Amino acid sequence: MQNILITGGAGFIGSNFVRYILNKYPDYRVVVYDKLTYAGNLDNLRDVEKLSDRYTFVKGDICDEKLVDQVMREHQIDTIVNFAAETHVDRSLMGAGSFIKTDVYGTYVLLEAAKKYGVERYHQVSTDEVYGEIPPGYSSVETDPLHTRSPYSASKAGGDLMCIAYHTSFGVPVTITRGSNSIGPYQYPEKVVPLFITNAIDDIPLPLYGDGLQMRDYQYVLDHCEGIDVVLHKGKAGEIYNLGTGVETRNIDMARLILRLLGKPESLIKHVRDRPGHDRRYSLNCDKIKALGWHSRHTFEQALEKTVRWYVDNEWWWRKIKSGEYWEYYKKQYEGREL
Ligand code: NAD
Ligand code: DAU
Repeated sequence: MQNILITGGAGFIGSNFVRYILNKYPDYRVVVYDKLTYAGNLDNLRDVEKLSDRYTFVKGDICDEKLVDQVMREHQIDTIVNFAAETHVDRSLMGAGSFIKTDVYGTYVLLEAAKKYGVERYHQVSTDEVYGEIPPGYSSVETDPLHTRSPYSASKAGGDLMCIAYHTSFGVPVTITRGSNSIGPYQYPEKVVPLFITNAIDDIPLPLYGDGLQMRDYQYVLDHCEGIDVVLHKGKAGEIYNLGTGVETRNIDMARLILRLLGKPESLIKHVRDRPGHDRRYSLNCDKIKALGWHSRHTFEQALEKTVRWYVDNEWWWRKIKSGEYWEYYKKQYEGREL
């Protein structure tokens, strides 16, 4: 493993992973391949650009067979890690087409390239959302059936199934991680944690969906990156690994803690009409990845504290994003939704 293609590497988790890999493995070369959608941002990679002998950026779509093929050949890619995806559930409810194109068809294009060039490993970054809503007292294991309920999770499940098919039918050495909600630096402020932090800094209400009692397993992004690294190097081809802390938090408690960390009043929380088909709880059993030697290094509180601090210290990054096009989306998503 030496020449890694990191698709979606200009996004949130992808850019953290690029930085992590370049720091940890001085002999690896990384090619970031990213379409730079609204969620992709070269500011996320500013500090790695100086490593020009080991880092290349290519602007491209994973659905573009020709360009993917050219990059595979020119950079002698031996490993693919696919982060590229449309990722926001609320946007998938507004329109699913781009989700199906990127998350399903795009995955197929990358798998074809992996097959043709005989890569050492193809890793698919997937999500706990493919298991659907999980009842109290249960945690999903990797062999559970998929019960997707949003166009986003259905598209991600399509990608996962295609990966398994390429392993079974053609022997492509595929691994999959199904990660939980991640938080940390460079997360686009449409996702709940950076949205709430940046709103709170500006004294803008925090739009909490429904009763706010939904539960998520919020993990620190570097724990997620480390988990992918462990599976990439120690995981077995054809296998799926859940990746999260195994501890869930209610959204309302997450919102309250953000406000406490920022010294802002709880009156900023405004309950709004719920997300249609909102999954109330995700929960992962992570014994399988733990058996590879991985463990989560941050509690939810530590992860949130670090994240809040980063957004407080890096207004240069998010203020640019929270302008024009962003507020158009915000209006469409939240206007008239107050309860
Ligand atoms: P993100 O939305 O921040 O970034 C996605 C990146 O993919 C962007 O840089 C975007 O430009 C790029 N991209 C989108 N469509 C593309 C295409 N057709 N071709 C090339 N590049 C394209 O996403 P994220 O939150 O960092 O998530 C990364 C991956 O991890 C996704 O596959 C997501 O499903 C998965 N995941 C995310 C979380 C989470 O909490 N954020 C949790 C579990 C799994
Ligand atoms: O579970 C992993 C998934 O986590 C990833 O696969 C997705 O890419 C990622 O977007 C995330 O999905 P969620 O739908 O869980 O994340 P989101 O940040 O949109 O919402 C988290 C919770 O907060 C969810 O219960 C909905 C709620 N929420 C969200 C927003 C945007 C609110 O209450 N208000 C909001 O404004």
